[in-house]
Amino acid sequence: MGIRSLGGLLAAKAPWVKVFWVCLFTMGFPGFSTAQEISFIKDVAPILKENCFACHGAKNPKGKLDMTRYESLRHGGTKDDPIATGKPDESYLIDVLKATDKTRMPPKESGDPLPKEKIKVLEAWIKQGAKLDKGLTAKTDLMKELRLRWKSPPAPEKYAFPVAVTALAFSPDAKKIVAGGHHEITVWDVESGKLEKRIRTRARRSMAFQFLPDGKLAVAGGRPGEEGDVRVYQIQGTGKMVNGVAMLDGVDDPKVMVKQVLENEDEVLCLALSADGKKLAAGGCDRLLYVWDISSGVENAKLEQSIENHADWVFSAGFSPDGKLLASSSRDKTAKVWSLATKESLATFPDHQNPVNGVAFKADNKTCYSAGDDRQIRLFGLEGDRAGKQVRVAGNHGGAILKLAANAKANLLVTSGTDNLVKSWNAESGAALKSFPGLTDHVLSVAVSQDGNLVAGGAWNGEVIIWKAADAAVVKKLAVSPGQQLTSK
Ligand code: HEC
Repeated sequence: MGIRSLGGLLAAKAPWVKVFWVCLFTMGFPGFSTAQEISFIKDVAPILKENCFACHGAKNPKGKLDMTRYESLRHGGTKDDPIATGKPDESYLIDVLKATDKTRMPPKESGDPLPKEKIKVLEAWIKQGAKLDKGLTAKTDLMKELRLRWKSPPAPEKYAFPVAVTALAFSPDAKKIVAGGHHEITVWDVESGKLEKRIRTRARRSMAFQFLPDGKLAVAGGRPGEEGDVRVYQIQGTGKMVNGVAMLDGVDDPKVMVKQVLENEDEVLCLALSADGKKLAAGGCDRLLYVWDISSGVENAKLEQSIENHADWVFSAGFSPDGKLLASSSRDKTAKVWSLATKESLATFPDHQNPVNGVAFKADNKTCYSAGDDRQIRLFGLEGDRAGKQVRVAGNHGGAILKLAANAKANLLVTSGTDNLVKSWNAESGAALKSFPGLTDHVLSVAVSQDGNLVAGGAWNGEVIIWKAADAAVVKKLAVSPGQQLTSK
């Protein structure tokens, strides 16, 4: 696999994309005829979003033409309204789509012309009066409206191919392991290795799991480039049994999906919980870190801060043991520490000189571990002369380090990488403890049980191994894409 970084892995299209394209292709515009009533929001807006919003969005639109609202589309940019109502042949919008010179949209350097069938949809809509659907106003935010109307597909009964395990967690009692799937979360029994539950999710994939003090599961994820969210699930319920597996509906059943904490325009990538369980943090592709007070239950989560401290995607976050500081790491090649009390940046650590994929505080509240694409686990200081300075290199992997998880109670750090390995470290001394072998692909997710006895890694090829932390003995090996088998025992 040529992709060597977490950013690359995230940006790479999952195999499922193939399926979507096949579906779209076979659906095409089958019964389309110009006599048919064209809906702006159902037929036209998706074409504009897919092909034009990237340059004609709300922020710095090209040609000053913002197409993300009907009003601004009709207002025009540097030129007048690009639509002549009822007259596609006189509409500048259609002219640029059909143009063969440099006025063509999308511009030649950005790809192929818009397919003829799609131009016909736009022409028919203009001919029918360029109307807005009932219930929408000219000011409706089309990105948001399309997101609201989007329906998540059911998870496949059997996966046609394995999906990457981008999120992994042990249940608080360490008896179950929870894995991220395709539009679902799956729950497996650690001892028997049996699939017990499938919880449908709106998100195409989960990027981070965090069990909350009351046993509910917070999940960050989304659809890359489309939307992101943090949702909280009650996964204790039983649900409908199908072939011995409990099916829970985390999309439409409010008893399962109990709270949405965050809604975003791109994926949310990480979560963190303070040691006292009173604060939840999240970060992702919008570069921000969000901190909620959940001391009176996640249902009453109150957003306390949204922190803009990074120049690129936030890959990881972690609270200091005393709950006063928040560390984060980013594709912007830094790890940073933010003071929640004074609302200012305390330290920026630049030494990785590569995307930083994981952070975790040491018990002293004064130093932080960070790890990233440069293969190193580094310890840096926060205070005085040591602020943002390296204390030492604590260890390394034979490839980019993709995840770093900490269990403060067990004094354990766990890392995973593109060298297909999971490794554990003494969080106090930084000493190398164990190397956990057996996975045969990049390890995208790691988990440590709350009692510190079990460690797990989830790989790009859909496989998970659970080991004993003490001696790296394999407890269980699983293929967590339902219907898929292990490639090796
Ligand atoms: C890769 C970026 C890009 C994409 C994608 C793109 N455009 Fe443009 N568009 C531009 C730029 C740049 C200009 C300004 C050109 C100029 O001023 O000479 C522009 C200008 C326009 C204008 C004229 C606006 C005005 O009032 O000056 C229209 C109409 C337009 N685009 C329509 C579209 C449509 C429809 C799509 C989607 C099918 C689209 N564009 C996709 C970059 C893009």
